Amino acid sequence: MTFDRSVKIAPSILSADFANFGAECEAIEAQGADWVHVDVMDGHFVPNITFGPATCAAIRPHIKGVMDVHLMIAPVDPYIEAFATAGADIITAHVEAGPHIHRTVQAIRGAGAKAGVALNPGTPAESVEYLLDMVDLICVMTVNPGFGGQKFIQSQVEKVRKLRAMIGDRPVHIEIDGGVTADTAPRVVAAGADVLVAGSAVFKGGSVSNPAPYGDNIRAIRQAAAALAAE
Ligand code: DX5
Ligand code: ZN
Repeated sequence: MTFDRSVKIAPSILSADFANFGAECEAIEAQGADWVHVDVMDGHFVPNITFGPATCAAIRPHIKGVMDVHLMIAPVDPYIEAFATAGADIITAHVEAGPHIHRTVQAIRGAGAKAGVALNPGTPAESVEYLLDMVDLICVMTVNPGFGGQKFIQSQVEKVRKLRAMIGDRPVHIEIDGGVTADTAPRVVAAGADVLVAGSAVFKGGSVSNPAPYGDNIRAIRQAAAALAAE
């Protein structure tokens, strides 16, 4: 993976057909997705359960590009190796998931993956201040994690702006997760985000047998963000 700050769209397969992940990953990549975002939930850190490392390993061969794994689990450290072995390019853990996020980031990099840290809406930007030299990505949750299809929390835009200033020249992505649409994307890109996770806004109206709407939806988000950059 090379680093750049161009806007990347990362569809979340939380909104895909769970009986057809392989084909869904292939469809969204064919329709213009830059990364594939994989939401792992444990029913403990967040009030929903999805799947674990075995599913990640099973979908890996169906993804040509970046597999971006978002761990909403606690504890997280005992499972890092398994997700790295499953082929995650990026593993993101939550700052709130345990008392030792610094150690968690070390473990992710030690396992050979890029390291991300995610912040819930109630967690301040300053919570990652001493991690900036050792992470590859900061994920700003713009909804409370656990479910797709929730409303974008506007107060997080200011947090993105703060993080962008804190990051400076460091090669650290700012990823936005939750409620991203063609309407909300320009606000976070203007504030400094470069990776846009979108579940419902990408998968709406389409399917594996009718994937064209995925492409339309991805383009709509990308164009909304680009129109702003051109202003
Ligand atoms: C929420 C997940 C998100 C979610 C986004 O806990 O981390 O990745 O799928 O879904 P939308 O785009 O529908 O808000
Ligand atoms: Zn996510």
